[in-house]
Amino acid sequence: MGLPALNIGPTPGDAASNEGVAGRDAVLGTYKRGDVEMVRGEGVYLIDADGNRYLDFVSGIAVNALGYSDAGLVATMKAASEGLLHVSNLYWTAPAARLAATLVKRSFASKVFFCNSGAEANEGAFKFARRWARTYGDAKRDIIALRGSFHGRLFASLAATDRPGYRMPFRPLAGGVSIAERDIDDIANVLSEDTTAALILEPVQGEGGVRVLDADFVREVRALTKARNVALILDEVQCGLGRTGTLFAYQQLDIEPDIVALAKPIAAGLPMGAVLVNEAIAAAIKPGDHGTTFGGGPFVAQVAEYVVERLSDPSLLAAVRDNGAWFGAQLRELGRRTGRIRGVRGVGYIWGLDVMGTAAHVVSEAMAAGLLVCGAGEYTVRILPPLVATREELSQGIALLEQVL
Ligand SMILES: Cc1ncc(COP(=O)(O)O)c(C=O)c1O
Repeated sequence: MGLPALNIGPTPGDAASNEGVAGRDAVLGTYKRGDVEMVRGEGVYLIDADGNRYLDFVSGIAVNALGYSDAGLVATMKAASEGLLHVSNLYWTAPAARLAATLVKRSFASKVFFCNSGAEANEGAFKFARRWARTYGDAKRDIIALRGSFHGRLFASLAATDRPGYRMPFRPLAGGVSIAERDIDDIANVLSEDTTAALILEPVQGEGGVRVLDADFVREVRALTKARNVALILDEVQCGLGRTGTLFAYQQLDIEPDIVALAKPIAAGLPMGAVLVNEAIAAAIKPGDHGTTFGGGPFVAQVAEYVVERLSDPSLLAAVRDNGAWFGAQLRELGRRTGRIRGVRGVGYIWGLDVMGTAAHVVSEAMAAGLLVCGAGEYTVRILPPLVATREELSQGIALLEQVL
């Protein structure tokens, strides 16, 4: 498929040359990093310090939806940098207000809170849900998350994250948070009108192995939460803002949530999160209930306005749906051809492959071949192309995967 012309992948013998990244020993070891220093990006490609190009199907773990060096994004940032960078939330600024109005216009929401990351968006969502629930009595405060969930690494979002390895060293986690099975009967058993404030779920569980929740199941959860007066929080931090082929993942489920958490791609690489809430939740929130110094600053909000506009483009969303369906079929076909894939799950531009052997092994072999993918659990390889990736670029990814498998 014409790959050699792209000069993809590390040059043989150069693999260790990035060990000398100045200062790397001073960085706290919270991540196992690939032994490479990334210095530049062009479209869907990342380029390392040795000039090697990688087809980037990690895209900053679903952050770089517009790829790299997008001309409109760069121009927006340049223009925004001429204006205010930060203004305290003690005052109004126009970009955040306009961005909030756009998100309200395009969703179920009546109001928006801006923060700085996905975990923070979920923490905010929990607080807003509890604040609302407390209007029904002091005992209504519990939060339920689902098996396989990942909601972040702060104390409450970690309590709602079903990853023992991430949780155990940090107990005690925030109280009043528990995990239910992805089973409507189990949820019906634990969901209480008197004591449950909220149930949180990812329409597509990303870190948990790219599990697209069954639409009927989510609709049943919506009906049950409504019947028991429990807020339904959708964590669309990873699967939201176009990745499934609609601006919000819930728009393909024929439901309205009470709260949606967003982050990753909202400012295409600048840190921002957002919590969208409906009218009932918004009515319960008063000044002082929550806050953050940086949330919704004018610079990042102006950039996010541009990004949300781009990600709302019907032709981009249609391409994600069509190309995504095609990509999924190609992955299944690849599994049949190679016999090295045990399962394929996904939608739009978020896919998971259950591979023979470990995901980590495939991830590192793919990197050596010039393709960036990441893991989602021990045996699942996760593929998150930038939302601007073309069908040709997707097929290049398939060819590289075939080589690796
Ligand atoms: C679904 C989901 N929620 C929350 C988070 C946490 O986001 P952040 O790393 O920005 O705190 C992530 C991050 O991967 C995520 O995938």
